[in-house]
Amino acid sequence: MPVVNRRMVAMRIVVLVSGTGSNLQAVIDAVQAGELRNVDIAAVGADKKGTYGVQRSAEAGIETFVVNFKDYADRAEWNHALTQKCLSYAPDYVISSGFMRIVGEEFINAFDGTYINTHPALLPSFPGAHGVRDALAYGVKVTGCTVHIADAGVDTGPILRQEAVEILPDDTEESLHERIKVVERRLLIATLRDLANKAEAAH
Ligand code: GAR
Repeated sequence: MPVVNRRMVAMRIVVLVSGTGSNLQAVIDAVQAGELRNVDIAAVGADKKGTYGVQRSAEAGIETFVVNFKDYADRAEWNHALTQKCLSYAPDYVISSGFMRIVGEEFINAFDGTYINTHPALLPSFPGAHGVRDALAYGVKVTGCTVHIADAGVDTGPILRQEAVEILPDDTEESLHERIKVVERRLLIATLRDLANKAEAAH
């Protein structure tokens, strides 16, 4: 009798980046170490050429793509191309991991409830591209990070996980962001584990 190979069904994700992708690297490491045993990174994409996030993914043997914002006549055309490209991988979730471009309605509708974003502040405080800088400038004593389901707004949508990070008197934007990212990586990995386990249980 043939041995039935009961292959586990992995949750497929596409990760979008705009920069260095250090949080993405933590996810890649967790997948490779078997800590996220039921997560499959189908592809990593960027909105511009030459990101380290795409480079390090390619080096890890992950499929990569660029939907270069500058190559499109307008935001709607770029948004359409990005949506189609992401859909082509049939992902269960799309993860914005330092993806610094606002996606439009077509994308949000295509990935309704399955587009996950991480943000380096305690949302709804300090949304936008400078969450760490804005928290420091305001003078709050505690900030943090948030993992949430992204909707059509800027860093808005239902919160999945959130954790506080204390601001130290001599913090710079860089030192604070690095401490936040340590927590952010842990939350992102925990969120992916939750979602993958839920998907596996429902299968
Ligand atoms: C992360 O801190 C992420 O939360 C932030 O960009 C950083 C990317 O770092 N995203 C936003 O600010 C979105 N509004 P990384 O490229 O080193 O992973």
